[in-house]
Amino acid sequence: MIVGNASNSGVYERLVSETMSSLQTQQLNGKIALVTGASSGIGAASAVALAAAGAHVLIHYNTQADEAQKVLEQVRAAGSDGEIVQADLVSWEGTQVLCRYAEGRKIDILVNNAGSLVQRTRVLEFTHELWEKVMMLNLTSAFFLSQAVLRGMSERKSGVIINMSSVAARFGGGLGALAYSSAKAAVSTMTKGLTKEFAPQGVRVNCISPGTVDTGYHRSFSTQEGLDGVRAATPIGRLGTAEEIADLVVFLSSDQATFIHGQVIEINGGFFMA
Ligand SMILES: NC(=O)c1ccc[n+]([C@@H]2O[C@H](COP(=O)([O-])OP(=O)(O)OC[C@H]3O[C@@H](n4cnc5c(N)ncnc54)[C@H](OP(=O)(O)O)[C@@H]3O)[C@@H](O)[C@H]2O)c1
Repeated sequence: MIVGNASNSGVYERLVSETMSSLQTQQLNGKIALVTGASSGIGAASAVALAAAGAHVLIHYNTQADEAQKVLEQVRAAGSDGEIVQADLVSWEGTQVLCRYAEGRKIDILVNNAGSLVQRTRVLEFTHELWEKVMMLNLTSAFFLSQAVLRGMSERKSGVIINMSSVAARFGGGLGALAYSSAKAAVSTMTKGLTKEFAPQGVRVNCISPGTVDTGYHRSFSTQEGLDGVRAATPIGRLGTAEEIADLVVFLSSDQATFIHGQVIEINGGFFMA
């Protein structure tokens, strides 16, 4: 407990704030972070937040080259640097392109963030091709990308992998999101399996499970009515922001999280409480 008069408690607060901001700007200095799906939403906010914490950021995108370029500019404005890499993770060929890119670099932090529902489809309309696409993008690419960085991480006895799941994994998703929510549940489980094999090698693997976050994802896949329903069912009465998820990405990447392994962290304003 800090005891003091008004003036010296002000000094204390300033010291704490200066120490915190210096921690935030220095804690990932010298680290290289690869963020998949960093051209928009949670991935873009994570790329910028990691850069603000000192990391050099490799910005992956699929279709939005201009947005990825803007994220690179924000990374530079945050005082760091990075580069851009394109790959379509819905295909095995595209996944291999990114895996080869990752193998050629000393990646300290991998954020497996790229993901999408792809197409809202009821069970009886599902084709094998669509099922494969959803699994490839949300699960298989994250597994093989993890494999690509894990060799180097285990040799160096150091590394962080953060997977992006979803609250949909906890309840089967909305109608038409069965494959997506199943893939996300597997991403959560994969996090635990990777931890068992690689925590002894010095690699920390965790998973973030966001509730509804206000990003382009919902402009493609949700209705206004659906989003209003989520707001009403959320104790804090609003959707999340990409920046709130990005703060958790930075924390889990940092040495402040060294005892956190194999966890699926729900972040949803109280919408779902595990
Ligand atoms: N928003 C939410 O409420 C919410 C909730 C739970 C979980 N999540 C998860 O959080 C992650 C980020 O979601 P977000 O809301 O930020 O979505 P977003 O704004 O739609 O961004 C999705 C990102 O994934 C990339 N991507 C999509 N399809 C791809 C493909 N075929 N190959 C490679 N990259 C691809 C996109 O790249 P391009 O745009 O360049 O094509 C984009 O950078 C996803 O895994 C999502 O499932 C989101």
